[in-house]
Amino acid sequence: MFHTSVIEISKSALVSNLKYIRKIVGKNVRISSVIKGNAYGHHIESFVPIAEECGLDHFSVFSAEEALRVKNVSNGKSQIMIMGIIDINELPWAINNQVEFYVFDFYRLEAAIEAAKTTRKSAIIHLEIETGMNRTGFDNKQFAKLAALLKENEKHLVLEGICTHYAGAESIANYHRVMNQIKVFNKARTWFENEGIKPHIFHSACSAAAVRYPKTRMNLVRIGIMQYGFWSNAETLIHYLTQSDKHNNPLKRLISWKSRIMGIKEVKTGEFIGYGTTYLASRDMRIATIPIGYAQGFSRSLGNQGRFLIGGERVSVIGTVNMNLVTVDITNVPQAGHGDEVVIIGEQGDLSISVASFSELSNQLNYELLTRLPDNIPRIIID
Ligand SMILES: Cc1ncc(COP(=O)(O)O)c(C=O)c1O
Repeated sequence: MFHTSVIEISKSALVSNLKYIRKIVGKNVRISSVIKGNAYGHHIESFVPIAEECGLDHFSVFSAEEALRVKNVSNGKSQIMIMGIIDINELPWAINNQVEFYVFDFYRLEAAIEAAKTTRKSAIIHLEIETGMNRTGFDNKQFAKLAALLKENEKHLVLEGICTHYAGAESIANYHRVMNQIKVFNKARTWFENEGIKPHIFHSACSAAAVRYPKTRMNLVRIGIMQYGFWSNAETLIHYLTQSDKHNNPLKRLISWKSRIMGIKEVKTGEFIGYGTTYLASRDMRIATIPIGYAQGFSRSLGNQGRFLIGGERVSVIGTVNMNLVTVDITNVPQAGHGDEVVIIGEQGDLSISVASFSELSNQLNYELLTRLPDNIPRIIID
């Protein structure tokens, strides 16, 4: 065994999610699988091979470190695109390995040109345009200098894409801001085209934008959360359901997280359980210890709040979450014994614990909870 819990990843759920995403974005739009944040906690080395088996051949990562991890497990036919950090001294590696990267300022553009000259290969770049998120990207005052540099260094650069990112496409509260971003992007697009600067592709959409703003799909969509079976937020799911004639959530969660009962104890009425005085036994109780804690990504804020499935029943976390342990009340599950399965996320019998219910209790976004799942929990691919 040599582990305290496991995360199962369902390949058939990925197949099914990709089918739905394809239906939404249409057949002519390429899907880039966003696998930053350790493939949203699914583990890059576990996820990329099954994603490739499912037909994905474009991966978006945050860093050169993640790009290297993809490269090490990929079938070699996929495109890898770094959307965030690549250090100057990592540029020659990227260029030699045809790893694509975002260029959002002159510092990186000039460094990329220098690295391309030294490696004698072209840097494959995506120009990021500032459209209103005010995070990264060239704004229109920089376009003239940018165009001149691009033309001057044409033989050192492959302009693969021109792109942007929206500041909250999942929420209707940001509607005007996103619509304005789309306008600004299209204006920039026309400006570059008029200058004779034509990238192979234009891309801008994350999951929520791809669902809610069809115009943002362009040539390629960068899909993260949806491929893993989650909506960006409840609003995006409701938007999808009301726009289609569907009544049920078509996406399927890929992960299940499971552990086992480590120990069982009887506790008398009036005793405190665990550290401090946060839980007082108000009756004679039977409790079980489960070998996961905040060191395994199970948030401390789930103390006296979290729920697990044991013996086909829903059981409650009692007391504080420890570094490596939690205690649960199994008084009403007399059949529970040492080594029995404990479901932290997933299904048991007719019951289910979703990431959403879990993250609501701990006040975390789906995104945050998933990406905090530690690397050292084994991932097992199931069908
Ligand atoms: C630039 C960029 N594109 C695409 C995505 C994918 O977003 P989502 O997981 O909502 O699809 C992200 C994620 O935050 C991102 O930062």
